[in-house]
Amino acid sequence: MGVLGLSSSSSSSSAGMVLVVVLGLLLNAAVLCNGGITSAFVRVLEKSVDMPLNSDVFSIPPGYNAPQQVHITQGDHVGKGVIVSWVTMDEPGSNAVLYWSENSKQKKSAEGIVVTYKYYNYTSGYIHHCTIKNLKFNTKYYYEVGMGHTTRQFWFITPPEVGPDVPYTFGLIGDLGQTYDSNKTLTHYELNPTKGKTVLFVGDLSYADNYSFHDNVRWDTWGRFIERSAAYQPWIWTAGNHELDFEPSIGETKPFKPYTHRYHVPFRASNSTAPFWYSIKRASAYIIVLSSYSAYGKYTPQYRWLEAEFPKVNRNETPWLIVLMHSPWYNSNNYHYKEGESMRVMYEQWFVQYKVDVVFAGHVHAYERSERVSNIAYNIVNGVCTPVNDLSAPVYITIGDGGNIEGLANNMTLPQPKYSAYREASFGHAVFDIKNRTHAYYSWHRNQDGYAVEADSLWFSNRYWDPVDDSKSA
Ligand SMILES: *[C@@H]1O[C@H](CO)[C@@H](O)[C@H](O)[C@H]1NC(C)=O
Ligand SMILES: *[C@@H]1O[C@H](CO)[C@@H](O)[C@H](O)[C@H]1NC(C)=O
Ligand SMILES: *[C@@H]1O[C@H](CO)[C@@H](O)[C@H](O)[C@H]1NC(C)=O
Ligand SMILES: *[C@@H]1O[C@H](CO)[C@@H](O)[C@H](O)[C@H]1NC(C)=O
Ligand SMILES: *[C@@H]1O[C@H](CO)[C@@H](O)[C@H](O)[C@H]1NC(C)=O
Ligand SMILES: *[C@@H]1O[C@H](CO)[C@@H](O)[C@H](O)[C@H]1NC(C)=O
Ligand SMILES: [Fe+2]
Repeated sequence: MGVLGLSSSSSSSSAGMVLVVVLGLLLNAAVLCNGGITSAFVRVLEKSVDMPLNSDVFSIPPGYNAPQQVHITQGDHVGKGVIVSWVTMDEPGSNAVLYWSENSKQKKSAEGIVVTYKYYNYTSGYIHHCTIKNLKFNTKYYYEVGMGHTTRQFWFITPPEVGPDVPYTFGLIGDLGQTYDSNKTLTHYELNPTKGKTVLFVGDLSYADNYSFHDNVRWDTWGRFIERSAAYQPWIWTAGNHELDFEPSIGETKPFKPYTHRYHVPFRASNSTAPFWYSIKRASAYIIVLSSYSAYGKYTPQYRWLEAEFPKVNRNETPWLIVLMHSPWYNSNNYHYKEGESMRVMYEQWFVQYKVDVVFAGHVHAYERSERVSNIAYNIVNGVCTPVNDLSAPVYITIGDGGNIEGLANNMTLPQPKYSAYREASFGHAVFDIKNRTHAYYSWHRNQDGYAVEADSLWFSNRYWDPVDDSKSA
């Protein structure tokens, strides 16, 4: 780090320049100390402990070769497709998904594929992925996986047809892991009276890499843990650092191996060439998923894809432009401080130009919401490198507080920078509730509170249709 943004000034050859910048920083610190709210809520800082292998949430469904770890995600660009994934342990079994709509009862069948992988001395079960296409919008479907005497049935509801005033409710979860706290976060999401219909997951899934040799059994337990939600509503996946599973010391040199075998995403539908960056439309939202851990410099595949992607977003069709990534750009926690900086320098200009409404990230195990700010004036020599209020800029939300084994990130930078509107080291989840093309209601819920309690909230005004200053509406 330290190559870009603020720090590039200090690597310039002029010592005078360094002095000016340092002075500037000190002055800024003085001016900026009237930042937002650092929550006074004090959480008991007990350690997050992984749930043991024999926990109820990890139980294996009964029956020979029973499908387990069932999860769904969007399977096309507009929401008429669903990817169904599941694992069978004893034999490959069937790749087919049987499905029927609540009304028609006429059963149809879609054929999928099966993959396996080895990781050090672990051999995966049979991982099935089946894309169901051309579903009707806004319809409840039942589906069945497995064969013979051991089949299992689930259901999902397809989103309404893409359109500018379609209400839709997204849940936000990040850095979940599989501790008792993770289970609380998921339970709170499930019981939140504002029912989320789709989870936007901002990366760091199982934390299997916390075990010796990245014991991939913990990828299996995680799949069983989230099934109770992810089999019934799509989880939109973002890759985090804990998906890398890059471990040359045991011969594992292909990054993202377990993740890419287990979690398929519809990246080809948005003309992406890799599953780490892609986009979907869902109801009135256009969602762009980026990868903090894939190359993003100029001329890289991700850069070229994103450059071509932004102009495709039609705010008359999808007013809400949402970006997901793992490593946050505006984080005022000492944990992972500035890790998102080089990507911010590459892409922030576009986010402002194309008026992204909100950016959700994870990685930092705490909660933070920013003001609408940008920091794009800097050009190596002008020294203009302070975040400024910018009504074309997104709100940045860090929601890496799912509750994994690494515990809370409770060491914040002081003073709280001006761009930071609210920050708190507690586990929780959030909900982004789109009402129409101009308004969306956002709320963050900490695990210590009752299911309906909002610890932080904001009325969002759409950046294209209603670009008023909404940052003070908290
Ligand atoms: C993998 O190797 C480790 C270390 O030798 C051992 O503890 C573990 O039981 C092995 N797992 C399997 C599935 O063989
Ligand atoms: C996880 O949460 C669910 C729902 O609240 C509960 O039924 C289950 O017992 C919990 N399991 C563990 C291991 O905490
Ligand atoms: C993907 O590329 C094809 C061929 O250029 C084009 O027809 C299609 O509209 C593109 N899809 C998206 C979602 O950009
Ligand atoms: C697992 O996570 C804990 C908490 O962050 C850490 O102390 C420990 O070193 C990690 N273990 C491994 C094998 O990564
Ligand atoms: C908090 O973070 C700062 C900066 O990284 C570090 O110097 C300090 O020791 C940390 N404090 C604690 C209590 O960990
Ligand atoms: C959009 O939703 C907001 C919040 O519910 C409401 O106040 C506003 O009247 C709605 N706009 C239209 C055009 O319905
Ligand atoms: Fe992370």
